[in-house]
Amino acid sequence: MIFDIFTTFPQMFDSPFFSCGIIKIAKEKGVVDIRVRNLRDFTSDPHKKVDDYSYGGGPGMVLKIEPIFKGIKSIKDKNAKVILLSPGGKQYTQAIAQDLAQETHLIFICGRYQGVDDRVKEFVDMELSIGNYVLSGGELPCMVILESVVRLLPDVLKNPESLDADSFGWLDSPLYTRPKEFNGRKVPDVLLSGNHKKIKEWKEKRRKKWIYIN
Ligand SMILES: C[S@@+](CC[C@H](N)C(=O)[O-])C[C@H]1O[C@@H](n2cnc3c(N)ncnc32)[C@H](O)[C@@H]1O
Repeated sequence: MIFDIFTTFPQMFDSPFFSCGIIKIAKEKGVVDIRVRNLRDFTSDPHKKVDDYSYGGGPGMVLKIEPIFKGIKSIKDKNAKVILLSPGGKQYTQAIAQDLAQETHLIFICGRYQGVDDRVKEFVDMELSIGNYVLSGGELPCMVILESVVRLLPDVLKNPESLDADSFGWLDSPLYTRPKEFNGRKVPDVLLSGNHKKIKEWKEKRRKKWIYIN
């Protein structure tokens, strides 16, 4: 799966985030190809300016449309889905992660400053928000979405059955490992009982239901 990321801060992606854990595994196995692209490389002015003042006034700068348009045009194939990260977008959920994991090519546009020229919406497939709060840029939301999608791709997780535990709207039951007792707090007896039927019933009862907002 190809991930193309358009950003004004490509250095944010020179991060251990991409060289450890499941992202590292997915890259090494060739399951993903992550390509970070500097929006400044798609400007036509000598100063590589990607932002400008807002028409009608108002605080802050606006990310210009031309570099985004030019950048996407340079790489978009007919199967690619373009995602704009935006606090006003659709709330990102596990259900959307599962849909995105079926795609072959995702293109992310990371906004900055006061936001992005609204005309960008004419050529994006979806606008996604990772929550009802405002960050300074779309880079962290992009990483959040990327990680949640990559872990769903075939051959990435060592134990793919763990995906069943946290998919379909359910989270895991509480988990314990050694020691059996820590500061007087004991692992529930049923988990040590060896009685698989009882353990299964206990786990089913304690799993938490997710609420999907679609
Ligand atoms: C400071 S924010 C702009 C906020 C803008 N004034 C608004 O009200 O939508 C700059 C950029 O950060 C990204 N961003 C901020 N919060 C986000 C969130 N919760 N989900 C996704 N992207 C977010 C978007 O790409 C946005 O264009």
